[in-house]
Amino acid sequence: MSSITIKTADDIVGMRVAGKLAAEVLDYIAPFVKVGVTTGEIDRLCHEYMVDVQGTIPAPLNYCPPGYTPYPKAICTSVNDVVCHGIPGDKVLKNGDVVNLDITVIKDGYHGDTSRMYVAGEPSILARRLNDITFECMWLGISKIKPGAHLGDIGFVIQQHAEQAGYSVVREFCGHGIGKVFHEDPQVLHYGRPGTLTELVAGMIFTVEPMINAGRREIREMGDGWTIKTKDRSLSAQWEHTVLVTETGYEVLTVSPGMPPPPAFIQKAAAPQTVGV
Ligand code: MF3
Ligand code: CO
Ligand code: CO
Repeated sequence: MSSITIKTADDIVGMRVAGKLAAEVLDYIAPFVKVGVTTGEIDRLCHEYMVDVQGTIPAPLNYCPPGYTPYPKAICTSVNDVVCHGIPGDKVLKNGDVVNLDITVIKDGYHGDTSRMYVAGEPSILARRLNDITFECMWLGISKIKPGAHLGDIGFVIQQHAEQAGYSVVREFCGHGIGKVFHEDPQVLHYGRPGTLTELVAGMIFTVEPMINAGRREIREMGDGWTIKTKDRSLSAQWEHTVLVTETGYEVLTVSPGMPPPPAFIQKAAAPQTVGV
């Protein structure tokens, strides 16, 4: 059974705060992502910033969905062919490494979930193009969000853009509803057909977080029970925002001063509703 919560005005206020805080962790960490740093050090810095500066809780730490072992760190650091859920550790970033940093904070009970791609040193042409196409995929998906649209509309434009570029869409992981619960209904697939699946209603909040592989879409799970890699060892990229469905379109909640602006071809969403202010 699927039960999608419609957020109240108070929920929306709380989700704006949590979303902004999650995005601000990504701003904060940007200058530290360079050649020679370990993913464990990036995790430590983010964890300290969340707890000591923001007063937020890192949602991944000890997160334990059914069938999983508790996640051992505060953030996810997914390097090169790691698709998602990379566990921070001793890995040293070298020139050209690309890494997704995925931050989920809890503030006053509400979750903000966002991720970006970073590069240590100079990326390859392929890595830069994969990052850019994946970023465009996320924004194309977001741009479809408005009441009356369907979840399949989002998946369709993401899949089209990725496959047109010669890339593939990971099927096993998807966006998700989010609020007081980290992962809730609906599932937001990053592939699909227009007009299919759930119709969007104002007050829904969910993430759009496409995982796009430079090679084939198949994945494999590592022995740690969390880390997911591409089966063919091709590069994988991901971007994520948490988004509210408004009366007129959408409002991205995971916004911050350092966030990369939307691609120029994305029409600006209608002004955010004043609901909850
Ligand atoms: N932040 C991830 C997402 O976008 C989930 C990470 S779960 C963790 O849904 F336990 F691995 F952190
Ligand atoms: Co998410
Ligand atoms: Co995330």
